This record gives sequence, C-alpha cells and structure tokens, in this order.
Amino acid sequence: MTDTAELKLDNGETYELPVITGSAGEKAVDVTSLRGSSKYITLDPGYGNTGSCLSAITFIDGEKGVLRYRGIPIETLAEKASFLETSYLLINGRLPNKTELENFQSEITIHTMLYEDVKSFYDGFPRDAHPMAILASVVCSLSAFYQDEEGSPEEVSYLNSIRLMAKLPTIAAWAYKKSVGHPFVYPNNSLSYCENFLYMMFGLPVEEYEIDPLLVEVLDTLLILHADHEQNCSTSTVRIVRSSMANMFACIASGICALWGSRHGGANQRVIEMLQRIREDGGGTKKFIEMAKDRESGFRLMGFGHRVYKNFDPRALIIKDKCAELLNKLKVSDPLLDIARELQEAALADDYFAERKLYPNVDFYSGIIYRAMGIPVNAFTVMFALGRLPGWIAHAKEYTEDPKNRIGRPRQIYTGPEQAEYVPIEDRG
Ligand code: ACO
Repeated sequence: MTDTAELKLDNGETYELPVITGSAGEKAVDVTSLRGSSKYITLDPGYGNTGSCLSAITFIDGEKGVLRYRGIPIETLAEKASFLETSYLLINGRLPNKTELENFQSEITIHTMLYEDVKSFYDGFPRDAHPMAILASVVCSLSAFYQDEEGSPEEVSYLNSIRLMAKLPTIAAWAYKKSVGHPFVYPNNSLSYCENFLYMMFGLPVEEYEIDPLLVEVLDTLLILHADHEQNCSTSTVRIVRSSMANMFACIASGICALWGSRHGGANQRVIEMLQRIREDGGGTKKFIEMAKDRESGFRLMGFGHRVYKNFDPRALIIKDKCAELLNKLKVSDPLLDIARELQEAALADDYFAERKLYPNVDFYSGIIYRAMGIPVNAFTVMFALGRLPGWIAHAKEYTEDPKNRIGRPRQIYTGPEQAEYVPIEDRG
C-alpha cells in the first residue's frame, strides 16, 4: 500500500505528497510542502475537507455516529464518569486515579471565587445583556487580574486552566443573577461542581435552597456530552488564537464568542424559540418542514444537520432519553417535547432530510432539559460553554505542547483588482 499521493497540476508537473494515516485508519494528503514546491495552494472554504492538525483528544466517525474522548465511547462516559473526571481525561490524556481526581477536584474548588473587583464589572452591563456577552467579557477580563505570573509557561497555563474551570460556573451564574436583579450568591466550596453551579444560579440569601440530586445528575451528564467535539468552530478558534501565543483567558473568551452563533452553540436557544413559534402558530409541524426545505424562506430546522455527522449524533440520542427521563421524574409535561418529537419524526421521514443526511444534533433536545431545570432560554448557550470548557483547554494545551506548532495563518486566493489607481477625493464621482 502506498503512503504517498501523486498530484498532477496544470503546469505539467507531478508532485508527490505524503499520505498520513490516523489511528482509526482515516487518511489525509499532507499538502504542507505543496506551495513551496509548486506555488499552488489548496482551497477549501469552510474547511469541510481540511485537517488543521493532528490530535489525540477526540475521535468522531460521522458516518457511523461514533464519538470517543481519548478512545472512550461517549455512551460509557455519560453512564459511568463524572464531568470533572471527563475533564481530567480530556486535559491530561488519561483517566485519573482516585487521588489524582481528588486533587483535581480540590484544585478547582479552591479557585471558585472571583476577585471582588470583577463583581463590579457586572454593574456596567445592562439588565438585558445577553449572558454570552457577559461570559466572554468577564472571562477575557480575568487576564487583567492574572498577569506576569511566576513559573514556566506550562505551569502558568495549567494554573489559569484550573482557574477557568473553577470560575466559569461562578461567572455564568452571576450573569443570570444580573438578568433577574437578584443578589449574587458566592460559591460554596463544600458542594460539588454541579451542585455549586445550581446553588449559585438558584440560591437566594433569604431562604434555604435544596439542591435536587436529579438535576445535579442530569447537568453532569449534559456537561460530559458537550465536553469536546474535535475541530469545531469554537475549538478551532481557541487553537488559532492560542497559536498567536495569546493567554488562556483570551483564548477561552474567543471560543465563547465563536460558540455563541446560531450555526454553532447558539442553536440550542434557537431550537426552543423555533418550537415555541411552531406552538404559537398552532398549525402543526408540516408548514415548518416545508419552509426548511425552501432555500428562499431563509428558515432552517434548528437542531438539525451537522458538518460531520451524516447519521444520528450520538449525543442527541443520549440527550433525548435523558430528557424523557427527567420530565418523567419531575412529573413535568412540556408541550415543546411533543412538538420536537413530531418534528423529528416528520423530518426523518422526508426525502429532503434523508438525501442530505440531516439528523437531530446535540442541540435538538438539550434546551427542553434546560427549560425543565429552570434555566432561561438565553442562557442555554452558556450551559454549552460550561461543558465545552475542558475540551477547549485540552486543545489549547495539545497545541502548546506540540513541538512543531506554528501560528495559524491560512492563505487565500485574491479576487480583487490586481492594481488600482488612488483617485484624489475631489476627482471622485
Ligand atoms: N434545515 C434545513 N436544511 C438544512 C439544514 C437544516 N437545519 N442543515 C443543512 N441543510 C441543507 C442545506 O440547505 C444544504 O442543502 P443544499 O445541498 O440543497 O444546498 C445541505 O443541507 C447542506 O447544508 P450545509 O449548510 O452545506 O451544511 P454545513 O455542514 O455547512 O452546515 C450546519 C452544518 C451549520 C450545522 C447546518 O446543518 C445548520 O445550519 N443546522 C442548523 C443549525 C444547528 O442546529 N447548528 C448546531 C450544529 S451542532 C453544534 O454546533 C453544536
């Protein structure tokens, strides 16, 4: 079997390029040397067929609907691991032993507080600020509080990663408190990661807040399912920002911004808004399926389709079951769940969706769970960010530790005028 590929170009030359094989047998033609030898670049807008790095963190087989973190199937982690255990796995490359996990948990726990000065930043935001705007701004602002620290760059990055893991739930919960005008609740370090988040979100100084273990369990699973997804838009953003040697807070803030958009993590908010629209419309799902099929309408089925999965998103399958289980146990009936099920059934039976291999993705059912937990719709993407944080950290770390790393700097094919005259302003029409 050959481990090179030949590329014949219109200059009459043939170039030999190395073929790289991943551990699951996936292949890539390595074009690194192509421009140097031929002056040609490769063009792939949207990077649908471009590998940006070698990575040992997460494996996806989009055709088969497989997702594994460091080789472990997502289904196993969702059933057996905790979110912090999964975070350790992603960041450090292997499962922790008992002592390592305890140390990791306590390292995170002692960093949950924010500087009191950070708290005053919240005063500057309007009450109706989107929580993702607050999350990104406050995370980036942490770089002003932790600068010029002693230790090797690896030690500083590690400490800042622990700070991020510890402080993101506090920042997120306070963004919510700001939006409802309630006093901020300080973290309670006797609580677990997810308990603490729920306590800071829903606790009030005037009454005891009883943390529902069921919500803790469901939240932990949701965070695991969101924890990494290889080179998606936000993770690629984190890696590219890291490639300029920006600090960890700046890198994660950029990941949060990239996640925000409706084609990425912002889709979970849009799914609920879409389901509500269908409900208010009262005419059933058929009209919306037809609209989604009509390019001119500008409407897409939110929570459907994925760049990589051409089969069921394995996370969506787990979330769908968790969703039914949670609503059942909470004895809540959400009409939006019925609409979601109807929509899924209708879409999967429709040729348009079948031909394009469009299936429900992770965002399709997660919003219904967040709603049942009492999380407001505009904070859904914040929940995604809380889950994705260890993945972003793992990728920034992997990038930093790669001895061959280079700044991320794609090329382009220029299509503007080759040369143009500068016309003085008084002579312009
Ligand atoms: N509804 C209707 N049609 C769709 C949808 C959808 N949700 N998604 C894709 N299509 C159609 C496109 O119109 C296109 O049709 P065409 O071939 O006739 O032109 C075809 O399917 C391929 O779609 P692309 O946009 O080329 O696929 P791409 O890989 O670029 O986009 C994306 C993937 C952004 C996820 C897209 O499917 C989408 O917009 N989905 C809705 C938003 C969403 O749920 N995003 C969350 C993704 S998961 C995540 O980030 C956590």
